[in-house]
Amino acid sequence: MYKDVQFEKYMDTVYNRLTNGGLFLTVKGSRPNTMTIGWGGITHFWGRAIFIVPVRESRHTFGLMEDSREFTVSVPIRADVRDSLNFCGTHSGRDFDKFRELGLTAVPGRRIDTPIVGECELHFECGVVYKETMNPKNLIKKIDDKHYPDYHTMYYGEILDCYLRDPDAQ
Ligand SMILES: Cc1cc2nc3c(=O)[nH]c(=O)nc-3n(C[C@H](O)[C@H](O)[C@H](O)COP(=O)(O)O)c2cc1C
Repeated sequence: MYKDVQFEKYMDTVYNRLTNGGLFLTVKGSRPNTMTIGWGGITHFWGRAIFIVPVRESRHTFGLMEDSREFTVSVPIRADVRDSLNFCGTHSGRDFDKFRELGLTAVPGRRIDTPIVGECELHFECGVVYKETMNPKNLIKKIDDKHYPDYHTMYYGEILDCYLRDPDAQ
């Protein structure tokens, strides 16, 4: 049911999904919450494999992340979860239990205490090693005008586990 994989083999898949519909970023809390991300990605830093996820302060996810310091990213490969990604990208966990509302399966993480979205095939479990809130002074005006003032905090999560899981094996 689980297959350990090298994340390097899935860089294209992650980039492709990030830029076409998004990925699920899940954080634990009094109830787990998942939101859609379309920015960020995998990089190499401090001799570690890092998944950077950008979260605006206005998101419910932001407060959860500040408390939990860990997250999972679930990536659909063949699964058609477009409707769920749309919902999770437009509705807040303050108002909805998104897992229950959408019938998504919160499968326990293997290495961390945060669940994955069981309907996806590829999963990353990450522990936050660094975070940085954007400084508007360092941003070019064109991007600032287009995308802000609700600035992102970038969470740098060390990839602790990466695996495929069969979504049909609920
Ligand atoms: C395709 C897509 C990509 C998104 N990417 C991000 C992102 O990278 N960072 C972010 O803060 N919000 C992003 N959002 C918006 C959040 O997913 C959205 O505000 C969500 O409702 C926040 O949920 P929460 O309040 O439960 O945390 C994206 C939305 C969509 C539809």
